[in-house]
Amino acid sequence: MLVTPLDSLAPERVAELLTGRFGHPYVYEASCESTQELLAEDSPEGALALCDEQTAGRGRLGRSWSAPPGRAILASLLLRPPAERAVSELSLVAGTAVAEAIEGEVGLAVQVKWPNDVMLNRRKVAGILAEASGGAVVVGIGVNVNQERDELPDDANVPPGSLYTSDGIKRDRAPLLAAILERLESNYDAWLERGLDGVYDSLGSRDFLRGRRIALDGESGIGVKIDRDGRFLVDLGGEQRAVESGEILFER
Ligand code: BTN
Repeated sequence: MLVTPLDSLAPERVAELLTGRFGHPYVYEASCESTQELLAEDSPEGALALCDEQTAGRGRLGRSWSAPPGRAILASLLLRPPAERAVSELSLVAGTAVAEAIEGEVGLAVQVKWPNDVMLNRRKVAGILAEASGGAVVVGIGVNVNQERDELPDDANVPPGSLYTSDGIKRDRAPLLAAILERLESNYDAWLERGLDGVYDSLGSRDFLRGRRIALDGESGIGVKIDRDGRFLVDLGGEQRAVESGEILFER
């Protein structure tokens, strides 16, 4: 008899938990270079690729993304939004879904740091990478679940954390994966129908940079908010600026 360990993310453990549209088909490999490369171009919307280990995981802005085998959720979801829709908004839609799902799991407030980070106790516990190609968008999701402190990257630009380093609990990853996909499906549907307004209540109330001292391209200022077009508004010495893309650092 095949005995599946509790914390496996292999299909035989996860399939029964995936009750919505997302996660079908479920492409699983124990190890891969990057889940962003695993889905075929003609995959249907909702297809998910997941690996327990990535040998060349990537983050935004040309960075790498690494985690010891079996400790994190490393997944890529294929979406087919209408061509005219802004792909950058999908990072916020997905980040909000991940924040909501983690919040349900840890019972602590979880925030979204514009444009793609998920923050718990001022540490980055998850990141989103939305890449468009050939009419599809592959939304990569990396969640630090069970890493110990010394298993997190020490060269990260935003201080990293895991759910484990925040509350000392080692978790089964499968229910968290299922919750992320469930929240993502409902947020994506709301976004398809109403744009960012569809998720704005949840996103706006989780806006990590709002009211914080920030630095933008060497200038200091105060974070104002994520606006309803997905930009981040900053106040630089009394002058308000809308940032469309890139990265905003915060003062600890
Ligand atoms: C970031 O914060 O810079 C985005 C990180 C995205 C990481 C995930 S892990 C699963 C998927 N595969 C990758 O190679 N990257 C994304």
